[in-house]
Amino acid sequence: MLIREARTSDLPQIVAIHRVAFAGFFMTELGHRFLKAYYRQVLDFPNHLFLVCQNMLDAPIEGFVAGFTNPHEFYNLLKKHKWYFALCALAHLIVRPHRWTHALASLRRAQSLTQPHRESLRIAELASLAVHPQAQGKGIGKALVLAFLELAQEQGVQKVYLTTDASNNEAVNSFYQRLGFRLSHQFWHTPQRLMNEYVYDLYNKQVKSRGEHK
Ligand SMILES: CC(C)(COP(=O)(O)OP(=O)(O)OC[C@H]1O[C@@H](n2cnc3c(N)ncnc32)[C@H](O)[C@@H]1OP(=O)(O)O)[C@@H](O)C(=O)NCCC(=O)NCCS
Repeated sequence: MLIREARTSDLPQIVAIHRVAFAGFFMTELGHRFLKAYYRQVLDFPNHLFLVCQNMLDAPIEGFVAGFTNPHEFYNLLKKHKWYFALCALAHLIVRPHRWTHALASLRRAQSLTQPHRESLRIAELASLAVHPQAQGKGIGKALVLAFLELAQEQGVQKVYLTTDASNNEAVNSFYQRLGFRLSHQFWHTPQRLMNEYVYDLYNKQVKSRGEHK
C-alpha cells in the first residue's frame, strides 16, 4: 500500500471515488464540476493535507483523505469564491433548487468554522475521507487517517476535527471512535440533519502510520 501526497492530475480519480463512495450525498448531487472545483480549492490551498492511496505507483487510486490546517482561512476563501462554486453547480441547482437550502446551510457551517477559536495553524480539519467501494474493508481508510494524523502532527497541529452524520451512520462513527476520535459537539446542519463533530488530540501523542506520504 502506497500513501502519497495528492497531485492535480489525481483530481479526476478523486472526484470519481467521491461520487461512488458518497452516492446520494449533498455535495455529490451538486455535480462533477462542483466536486472538481472543491477538491482543486483544497489542493491549491497552501495549508492543505491531502493524501491518496494506491497499491503501487501508477496503479489506480483506491482512496483519499483531504483536509487542511487553518480552517478559518480555508472557509474564508470558500466564501470569497462562493459564486464560482454556485456556477459550477448551476445545472444541478436549476433542476433541484431546494439544494440551495443545503448550500446555504453549508455556508453557515463554514462561517461557524471561522470563529476565533479555530483561527490557528495548530488546528486541522479532516474534511473528506473516501475509499472506493471495491477496496473497502482492507485497511485503506484506517491507513489514510493515520497518515493524515501523522502529517498533521509533523506540521505542528495539536487538534484534528471532523464532522460526520450522527444518524444512520453507525459504521463511520464507530470507525472514527475506534481510531481514537472523541465526540466533541453535535449540531444541526439542516433541520433534518444532525451532525457529530469529533476531535483527535495530537498533543503529547506519537502517531505512527505504516505508509509513506512524501
Ligand atoms: C468509512 C471508510 C472510509 C472506511 O474505509 P475502509 O478502508 O473501508 O476501512 P478499513 O478497512 O480501514 O477499516 C478500519 C476499521 O474500521 C472498521 N470498519 C470499516 N468499515 C466498517 C463498516 N462498514 N462497519 C463496521 N466496521 C467497519 C474495520 O472493521 C476496521 O476495524 P479494525 O481496525 O478493528 O480491523 C469507507 O467505508 C468509505 O469510504 N465509506 C464511504 C465514505 C464515508 O462514509 N466516509 C467517511 C465520512 S466522514
